Amino acid sequence: MWEPSELLHEGAEATVTAGKWMGKSAVLKMRRPRGYRHPDLDRRLTRSRLSVEVRILGRLQQSGFSSPSLYDCDIEESWILISKIDGRPLYEAITDGSVGIGVMENVGALIRRLHEEDISHGDLTTHNILISETGNLSLIDFGLARVSPELEHMGLDLQVLNECLTASHSELEGAVDTMLRGYLGEGNDEAANVVSRFEKIRGRVRYHG
Ligand SMILES: Nc1ncnc2c1ncn2[C@@H]1O[C@H](COP(=O)(O)OP(=O)(O)OP(=O)(O)O)[C@@H](O)[C@H]1O
Ligand SMILES: [Mg+2]
Repeated sequence: MWEPSELLHEGAEATVTAGKWMGKSAVLKMRRPRGYRHPDLDRRLTRSRLSVEVRILGRLQQSGFSSPSLYDCDIEESWILISKIDGRPLYEAITDGSVGIGVMENVGALIRRLHEEDISHGDLTTHNILISETGNLSLIDFGLARVSPELEHMGLDLQVLNECLTASHSELEGAVDTMLRGYLGEGNDEAANVVSRFEKIRGRVRYHG
C-alpha cells in the first residue's frame, strides 16, 4: 500500500520519505533509535514524541489548520504516515532569495493562529515552515508541541524563531519586527501578552545567556 519514491530528509532523529499511499502523495516519517541513549529511555522518548505528533495533527486537521493530515501510524514501530505538503522549507526560499521580508508577516499570523488553537509548536525554525509556489504556508514537525501551552511556551515559540532568523537569515533585515506585527494582527490581549513574554525571554537571553 505504501510505495516510497524519494528520500526527503535523513536527520538525527527521523528519516522522511515521500511516496504514494492509496494513490495520494504522502510522507513516511520514521523515527529511529539514537545510539547514545539508553534503549529504554530512547523507546520512551520516541514513543512520546510520535504520539504527541499524532495527537496534534489530529486536532489541527479538525480545525482546518494548514498542516499535514494523518493517514496512518504505528507508534510501537515508530512511524507515522502523513499527507505530503506541497511546498519546500521556508529556510530554502529565504536563502535563495525567492521570498522577501513580506513573508514574515504571514509567518507571524500563522503562529498566532496555531496559538489560538491552544497549541505551541516547540521547534519553530524555518525548516519546519513550508511554503508553496503560490506562497501558502504550512507547519510541520509537531513532536515537541503542547496542547494547552503556558504563556512561557508560546513566548518560547517566538524566541526560537527569533534565534533562527538572527542566526540563519540575518540578510532579512527587520524580519523579527515584521513577524511580530503579523502575530499581533489587529491586536488582542492574549497576543500582546505572548509578545511581552517573548520580549522578557529575549532580554533574559541577551543579558545572561
Ligand atoms: N508532510 C510533509 N510534506 C512535505 N515535506 C515534508 C513533510 N514532512 C516532512 N517533510 C520534509 O522533511 C523534513 C524533515 O521532517 P521533520 O521536520 O518532520 O523531521 P525532524 O523531526 O525535523 O527530523 P530530525 O529531527 O531528524 O531532523 C522537513 O524539513 C521537510 O523538508
Ligand atoms: Mg524538522
